Amino acid sequence: MKFFVDTAEIDAIRDLAATGLLDGVTTNPSLIAKSGRDFMEVTREICGLVDGPVSAEIVALDYPTMMKEAEVLRKIADNVCIKVPLTVDGLKTCKALSGEGTMVNVTLCFSANQALLAAKAGATFISPFVGRHDDNGFDGMDLIEDIRLIYDNYDFATEILVASVRHTTHVLQAAKIGADVMTAPPKVIHDLFKHVLTDKGIEGFLADWAKTGQSIL
Ligand code: E4P
Repeated sequence: MKFFVDTAEIDAIRDLAATGLLDGVTTNPSLIAKSGRDFMEVTREICGLVDGPVSAEIVALDYPTMMKEAEVLRKIADNVCIKVPLTVDGLKTCKALSGEGTMVNVTLCFSANQALLAAKAGATFISPFVGRHDDNGFDGMDLIEDIRLIYDNYDFATEILVASVRHTTHVLQAAKIGADVMTAPPKVIHDLFKHVLTDKGIEGFLADWAKTGQSIL
């Protein structure tokens, strides 16, 4: 499963990129606003930090303007992935852009039928929002299971990008279901490394090592 980080904070992206485990970045208008940075400038900087796809979201809602915005964004770098909302015009834009070889991430997906439409529109990624689904009394992971089943039934190439990830259990469930990608805030990715028994084990080994009086270097 590929790991994308869901942020527009440069330091957090640089930090995770240094682990060698980061496959891409997702942003959205709220994350850009939170960063306080200029959209074009920060997106360009992010594209230079990772080799993989960097999702940049268009904000227009009508097809002609969506295409114009996509035209501006896709010139930023080769690894820009245009993020479009799951609407009729969004999927029209998806179809046109993917036909031209541009990566497209269809966002704000909350049903398996929506995911089916996105795949038919040639989306590179479909982003079902599991956390927001859970928040509204549904089971976000049931949605991922349904989409996996449908995509496998028809051999769709669209990758399932599990979004709105809130905790490490979402990551585990996504991996068990066989999602292609997950995008999570930096804290959740850092939490994946942690286990209390790992810390306790290191502590015990170092205490015993100190008793030997030896050093490796
Ligand atoms: C995905 O691409 C979105 O940016 C993101 O995962 C939304 O997550 P949220 O529900 O925590 O805002």
